[in-house]
Formats: sequence, C-alpha cells, structure tokens
Amino acid sequence: MSGICDGRVVIVTGAGRGIGREHALAFARAGAKVVVNDLGVSLQGEGGSQTPADEVVKEIQELGGEAVSNGSDVADFAQAGELVKTAIDAFGGLDVVVNNAGFVRDRMFVSTSEDEWDAIVRVHLKGHYAVASNACAYWRQRSKDGQAVDARIINTSSGAGLQGSIGQSAYSAAKGGIAALTLVQAAELGRYGITSNAIAPSARTRMTEEVFAEMMARPDEGFDAMHPGNVSPLVVWLGSPESRDVTGRIFEVAGGSISLADGWRTGPELDKGARWEPDEVGAAVHELLSKAEPPQKVYGT
Ligand SMILES: NC(=O)c1ccc[n+]([C@@H]2O[C@H](COP(=O)([O-])OP(=O)(O)OC[C@H]3O[C@@H](n4cnc5c(N)ncnc54)[C@H](O)[C@@H]3O)[C@@H](O)[C@H]2O)c1
Repeated sequence: MSGICDGRVVIVTGAGRGIGREHALAFARAGAKVVVNDLGVSLQGEGGSQTPADEVVKEIQELGGEAVSNGSDVADFAQAGELVKTAIDAFGGLDVVVNNAGFVRDRMFVSTSEDEWDAIVRVHLKGHYAVASNACAYWRQRSKDGQAVDARIINTSSGAGLQGSIGQSAYSAAKGGIAALTLVQAAELGRYGITSNAIAPSARTRMTEEVFAEMMARPDEGFDAMHPGNVSPLVVWLGSPESRDVTGRIFEVAGGSISLADGWRTGPELDKGARWEPDEVGAAVHELLSKAEPPQKVYGT
C-alpha cells in the first residue's frame, strides 16, 4: 500500500458506496490514510446506517491500509467540523478533502416540491461548502502558523451541472453551483497552499443503474468502461503532491477518458458604446447568436 499519496490524510465523503467507495480504496492503495465518511442513506437521501462506511474501512484494513469511519451528515456544519476533527484526531492532520456525498430526487421542474429542492441543494451545495469550510479553517491556521500546507479540495460536479439534465433541475443547479464554487475556491485559496478542482464523473452506481443499463455490457471494450473505479485514478492524482500546479479546473471523467470542461467564456460581443434601445436589441441578439457556437445538448433532450 504505497504510491503517489504516501502518508497523505484524505477525507472522502459518501465513501460507503459507489464512486466514493472506489476513491477511498484507490487512495488507500496509493498510500493514503483515509477517513471514510458516509451517512448510509437511501438513493433519495432517506434513513441512515453506519454499515457502508464501516465495511469500506474493513476492506481497506484487510488490504493492509489505514482507515477510519465517520458518519457525519456533510451538510450539517457542526457535523462537517466533526468530520475534519476525526481526520486530525486519527491521523494527526488533513491534506485532501474529496467532496462526493449526495443523493437525487429526480422530478420535472414544474413538479419539484420545495422540500425536494431544498434537500438536493442542501446535500450537494451546502455539503460541499460545510466540509471544505471546516477544512480550510484548519489549513489557513496552519499556513498562518508558518507550517507547510499542500492541500487539495476535489469537488464532484456532474454533466448535469455543466450542460443541464431533464428531470434534474435542483440537482443540475446544485452541481453547476459546485463548478462555480470550485473556481472561486481556486482563486482565493492558493495563497494558503490549497488547490481546488472538480470532476464530472460518469459511472454505473445505484444512482445511474437505469440510465446506464444499455451500456453495462460492452464485452468488446476489453474493460468495464462504466465501472466506478475508472473515475478514481484522476482523483487520486489530484489529491497527490504532483498536482500542485493544477487548480480551478473541471474534469469530465468516464471509462478510459479524461477531458477538460471548457466552461463559460465570453463569446461574440457587440458593443454599441452607449445604452441600447429595447427595439434595437433583437437584431443585436440574433447577430450574436449567428456568430456563436450552438450550446451543447441538455442531457435527456
Ligand atoms: N454515478 C454517476 O455517473 C455520477 C454522475 C455525475 C455525478 N455523480 C456524483 O458522484 C457522487 C457519488 O455518486 P454515486 O453515483 O457514487 O452515488 P451513490 O448513491 O452510490 O453514493 C453516494 C453516497 O453518498 C452518501 N450520502 C448521501 N448523503 C450524504 C450526507 N448528507 N452525508 C454523508 N454521506 C451522504 C450515500 O449514503 C451514498 O453512500 C455524487 O455527488 C453524485 O451526484 C455521479
């Protein structure tokens, strides 16, 4: 159990199942000490159990690695603080936060209830904020105390957040928010020795079982392209000291493919040099649209 993350202390949220579980195992194989966080909720975010996190800890220990389990709700600020404290108490510090926990409550926008909206925005967007905020307070203090900080935040966005996804308005809004949060964290936190990047993964988990049903069996490819473990090598590298000069980037990752999301940029422009009249705007907008690349497809359209 040694590799590019030797001795690094890593928190992976939502690591009891799916993609997060693969991250935790991959970090352990690369030499990291891992805090396996999971609330053990259903796909819709209901219930709770410590068993999934405990089982991943056991798996890591059986491989000869070091891990501890934590059952914090990532979107509860005080519990997110407990999660950071668990890493420091168990392993003497913290180097990497992988924000991965979350759930879905898919519904067309017009049918999305206030409770569904709040639950999804809370777990993804506030969950990313709460854990990173507590970790950054710790890292900033160390930096102010003159200690070396070489820290990483790795966020989990989604194709839904980058391009939109039918039936997932709250989820897409939260995941788009996570992409923007990543840009701001990268711009603000470099001075403390912290980088922030995000991934938009695609893999077969309980979250996507139905969506990827057709793509599941692809014997000709020679490997299981939708296996969630395919997402983790990039995340482990982003968590390693080798990624120090990479920050503020969003990577799409699936199977054997890694791509860089080339996000919102200022496109074609018309500058009149004065305030527009409302009846002039239509022609200007159509001219801009004629010069612009068409947007990428919204998932599910
Ligand atoms: N699977 C994909 O193709 C895909 C695509 C895009 C984005 N994602 C994102 O990747 C991440 C992992 O998804 P997955 O597919 O592995 O799903 P999953 O349901 O298999 O795993 C998510 C885990 O997060 C845990 N969790 C949920 N709420 C929590 C909370 N408040 N605190 C702590 N743990 C909590 C769950 O118990 C679960 O074990 C999610 O953020 C998801 O939105 C997945």
